[in-house]
Amino acid sequence: MKSVKRSIARAIADIVGRPEDEIARMVEYPPNPALGDLALPCFPFARELRKNPAQIAEELAASVRQADGVESAQAEKGFLNIRLARPEFAERVVNQAISSVHDLFSLERGRGRTAVIDYSSPNIAKPFGVGHLRSTIIGHAIKRMMREDGWNVEGVNHLGDWGTQFGKVIAAYLKWGNEEEVRKDPIKELFRLYVRFHQEAESSPELEDEGRLWFKKLEEGDPEATRLWRWFIEESLRAFRQVYDLLGVEFEHYIGESFYNDKMDAIVQELRDKGLLVEDQGAEVVDLSAYDMPPCIIVKSDGTSIYATRDLAAADYRHKAFGAEALLYVVGAEQKLHFQQVFKVLELMGRDYAKHCVHVQFGLMKFNGQRLSTRRGHVVYLEDVLQKAIDEARAIIDEKNPGLENKDAIARQVGVGAVIFNDLKTFRVHEVDFRYEDVLNFDGETGPYVQYTHARASSVLRKAGTAAEAARWSSTHRPDDAEWALVMLLAQANETLERAVDSYDPSVIARYALQMCHAFNRFYHDHPILQADEPARTSRLALTRAVREALAKSLYLLGIEAPEEM
Ligand code: ARG
Repeated sequence: MKSVKRSIARAIADIVGRPEDEIARMVEYPPNPALGDLALPCFPFARELRKNPAQIAEELAASVRQADGVESAQAEKGFLNIRLARPEFAERVVNQAISSVHDLFSLERGRGRTAVIDYSSPNIAKPFGVGHLRSTIIGHAIKRMMREDGWNVEGVNHLGDWGTQFGKVIAAYLKWGNEEEVRKDPIKELFRLYVRFHQEAESSPELEDEGRLWFKKLEEGDPEATRLWRWFIEESLRAFRQVYDLLGVEFEHYIGESFYNDKMDAIVQELRDKGLLVEDQGAEVVDLSAYDMPPCIIVKSDGTSIYATRDLAAADYRHKAFGAEALLYVVGAEQKLHFQQVFKVLELMGRDYAKHCVHVQFGLMKFNGQRLSTRRGHVVYLEDVLQKAIDEARAIIDEKNPGLENKDAIARQVGVGAVIFNDLKTFRVHEVDFRYEDVLNFDGETGPYVQYTHARASSVLRKAGTAAEAARWSSTHRPDDAEWALVMLLAQANETLERAVDSYDPSVIARYALQMCHAFNRFYHDHPILQADEPARTSRLALTRAVREALAKSLYLLGIEAPEEM
């Protein structure tokens, strides 16, 4: 679509005295397609040209009519409504989509540039929370979107593998735990020990001292403490990896918080040298009152460093070790202040890259409208959620398509896809609600609906056999409204990805896929494809193929699989 917008802009740039790029960006898609394919609001030119918008639109219409790819241009209420030359445009868009599927979305803006994206980052020996689930799903999608835009992206799992809680878990394990239970279900068992520690500590406060003692030993490198700590990490990771495998998510690096243990002194020293550290009730902090923020705590009163200090060290490390120009953090909105403080401190330390640090925040996830709280014992174990989605997908498939081969594999793709899509279809900052009936509804705005539409297109192509491979849109076939809606969407793939990447927002892709599905299903219901006469038949096969590729690619960008049959 970019080239059409540019040709429109070129036709009028001199008249309105603005750069082509700027005009191209002003071209809109009218909400009502009956008005035209594209529209240019003429209000912004009124002041400079000293004419009213209606008059301007009138005058520009004649030039725009001459532009490449334009069929007609009409002035209406200060807008210039533009219609494209359908057969030629369809031919170009559909055939290009088919001949280089890769170019459908592909942008190259990130060539030669590296971003580090911190996502998932669960805490060892604690349940993988829904917040971590959201982070995992959103981060993975952003990674794929940015790669599609040419970026080199390094995914980092910043595991919470250090802190006083490890002293407690070690103490609790030595009292009440056993090896076999931990091996069987590490997360549940380690969390059970942790919770029990807290419960018992209420009546026997001396337990807290024991926990502190074990953490101190761990810090001093005591072999027994270190062995247990390592083992807890290993077992927890094994459990987390099962979730990652189910979700189809991978990380380039696992670098836990403990990695920065020996890298924080340098940060503290630098802050001190630069005069940024002040004392505050026994702790050392960076005063941020000038920026309307509470102080950022760097060293606690007991001499231990905290979360923020580790993030400062981690940011430096990521910037240097990976040559990253952008640092992204996919973390819940409740940590907004933390990241504002960390980025501000980096800026005060003189780090240039601080302006390319982004907290990609997201909202809560509720289950059946209810907020989860670990404290009230409302823990949802992620494996259980995914497994239940898979089981229900399996039940639906058994009913809808009992003869399907590979039912288990497909049920997994559909169940997991349903959970992922539900998370990604709304703007990440909003809350999401999770209800099995809704996320698995094959007719709703769901993952299964998109997958099903993709499978439907695949099935048409399968039936056409080799004819589908060779099919190209024929310029002698004039697209009707249903076909045209699909062509217009295909032409917007590129700018859709651009918007998604610029706002770190996978929902842009999810909504694009939904629109494509709605348009395809309308087309599919009203038009014969295999039974149509030529040149409609070949053109429709080509269109179906382009749509199938666009859906497969959209699902891929979201981190969802696209089965050919379901
Ligand atoms: N482990 C942290 C938590 O569960 C999230 C870490 C996010 N990443 C970071 N660099 N702080 O809250």
